[in-house]
Amino acid sequence: MKLVLGNLVKFYRRILRDHSQPVKISNIADFERTSVSYEQRVLNENWTFDNKPRDVETGNEVAPNNDFVIRYLILERRLSAYKGSDLWEYVRKFVNSRNFTSILSIGSGPCAVEMEIAQGFVRDYQWDCIDLNENLIRQATKRAQALGYNLQPIVGDINQKKFDKPYDLIVAVASLHHFVELEKLFLSVSNALKPDGEFVVYEPICKSGMFLFRRQRLLLALLFLFLPKKYRLNHQDYGAEKRCDRFYNEYDRSGWTFECIRSGDIPQLLKAGFKVKHWGRGMTFLRRVSDSVYGPNFDLRKKKDNLIVGFFCLLDRFVRFFRLVPVEGLFFIGKRK
Ligand SMILES: C[S@@+](CC[C@H](N)C(=O)[O-])C[C@H]1O[C@@H](n2cnc3c(N)ncnc32)[C@H](O)[C@@H]1O
Repeated sequence: MKLVLGNLVKFYRRILRDHSQPVKISNIADFERTSVSYEQRVLNENWTFDNKPRDVETGNEVAPNNDFVIRYLILERRLSAYKGSDLWEYVRKFVNSRNFTSILSIGSGPCAVEMEIAQGFVRDYQWDCIDLNENLIRQATKRAQALGYNLQPIVGDINQKKFDKPYDLIVAVASLHHFVELEKLFLSVSNALKPDGEFVVYEPICKSGMFLFRRQRLLLALLFLFLPKKYRLNHQDYGAEKRCDRFYNEYDRSGWTFECIRSGDIPQLLKAGFKVKHWGRGMTFLRRVSDSVYGPNFDLRKKKDNLIVGFFCLLDRFVRFFRLVPVEGLFFIGKRK
């Protein structure tokens, strides 16, 4: 009896009970109620992005020994596409359909995405790119100059920045989930868009703090129950140690940087701030098994690993299609209201 009760309590605590950030963050002032100040988080954020493994030529983040994450990203980009175009292709078509396009990227990092997209431009453009990280912006400036892209990388804090010119396109790739002052930002974006301008976004929209939705947690618990140990090795959260997790390791990933600081607020704020042209739903749980935490456990050259990965992809498509589990990714295109 005691054992059954103990297991029920454990099941409730680990699987059924929802978790959230200890302090709900809605603006910069809210950090005063946490143990890590805004200024300290800026330093931590920059340190984190300075130390990510990157491709030396493009500056793009790479995932060593992890092909699964590429497979997940390809699938998500395809399924969330607008009339067959993912964000990359959509921006190219937009620019190539007019004489001149002024573009702004917010949270552009090393501008690797921007340069990859601009490779396909056949019309004139000017692309301003803002990021908090001075080192990444310096590298982006060098690369853009060397390769002849018309990019203007700028160091700036999006939470405190006003845009001083109008744009045809404003782009955010995997950056909104690092911003705090989303209400002010969306208002500035809307004001900075030309009347026929568009806000184009590709974003993780998981719960703030990167916590799991309950149905996602239940599904992952079920999968983890059947997954052999070697696929549950955690490559990220315990320093050099590779510990095996019984359940998905859920904790506040926004604790010391801006990672997913308000990701859960993005969908409703986008809907409130813009006229929706496209709402491309991404995947549900696939990121959680394929990213740097557990992704390196799957070696796609091995038949068994490949089968498991194929099964995960199919299962995600199934639960996504029938809306059994909330999605964690979004390709959004919006216009001024
Ligand atoms: C996940 S990275 C995405 C970078 C790039 N868009 C990409 O797709 O490779 C998030 C970026 O947001 C930037 N960032 C975080 N907080 C910011 C802020 N307040 N203002 C401007 N950039 C910020 C980080 O420096 C980082 O480069």
